[in-house]
Amino acid sequence: MKKNILALLTVISILTIFVGCSSNTSKTQGNENSNSKSGTLTMYTNAEFAPFEYFKGEKVVGVDADIAERIAAAAGKELKIQHTDFDSLVPSLVAGKADFVAAAMTITPERMEEVDFSIPYVESIQHIISLNESNYTTMDDLKGKKIGVQLGTTGDLMVSDAINLDDGALKGSGSEVKPYSSPLEAAQDLLTGRIDAVVVDKLTAEEISKNNSDKLTSVKFGEISESYGIAVAKGNKELLEIINSTLQKLLDEGKIEELIEKHSN
Ligand code: ARG
Repeated sequence: MKKNILALLTVISILTIFVGCSSNTSKTQGNENSNSKSGTLTMYTNAEFAPFEYFKGEKVVGVDADIAERIAAAAGKELKIQHTDFDSLVPSLVAGKADFVAAAMTITPERMEEVDFSIPYVESIQHIISLNESNYTTMDDLKGKKIGVQLGTTGDLMVSDAINLDDGALKGSGSEVKPYSSPLEAAQDLLTGRIDAVVVDKLTAEEISKNNSDKLTSVKFGEISESYGIAVAKGNKELLEIINSTLQKLLDEGKIEELIEKHSN
C-alpha cells in the first residue's frame, strides 16, 4: 500500500515537472513568435487598382506599396505584402492577420467602426467609365442600365444605394449593379457589351480608359470627394503614429504626387 502511494506520488511529481516544463516551453515559444513576427510588417491590399496597387509579374507595386516601404523602414521592419479580395481587407485586419491595410481605401464612418485610419493622403471622387459612343456622365444616364463595380468599394455602395434605397436616384428604373472582384474584369465586360458602365475611383478609371482610349471614356460622376487612409487594427496607436508621420513627411515633400505620376501611364 505504502509502495503504491509512493509510486503515485512519484507519478504526480513527475507530471508536475512535465506540466511545468511544457508551460515554460510554450511561453518561450510565444515570445519567440511575437519577436519574429515583430520583425515583419504585414500589409494587406487588393492589387487590382493601378496606380495604387497592381501586379508587375509576381510582385505587388504601386503608390501604396512605395508608401508601405517607407513605413516599414521607419518602423525598422521588413515589409510583407499580401494580396486578397478588397472586401476581405477590413476583416483581415480585425482578425489580426494584417498589421495594416493600404489599398486606396476611402475613410468611411462604417469602416471607422471596425478599424482606425491614418491621416488622409489622397483625395478622390467616383468616375464613370462607358463606351465612347455612350458617353454617360450623369446618374440619369444610368437609368435601366447594368453597372459594374468592384465588390465592397465605395463605388459599389454608391450605385447599390441609388438602386435600393427608397429615395435612390435609380430606384425602380430597372438598373442593375454587377459586382466584380476587380475593376479590370468589369471593364472587360463593358468592352464586350455585357454591362453598360463601370463606376470606380477617378485615377483607376482614368488608367483603365487611357489604356483603351479608342473605346472607353471616363468622366467625373460622384459629387462627394473621398479621402484615402491607411488602416490599422483598432487601438494600434504605435503603428498608426509611424504611419502618420511617414505620410505627413511624404505629403509635405510633395512625394505622393510624384508617386502617382511614377505609377500612372
Ligand atoms: N476607394 C474605394 C473604396 O475604398 C475603392 C478602393 C479599391 N482599392 C483596391 N485596392 N481595390 O472603397
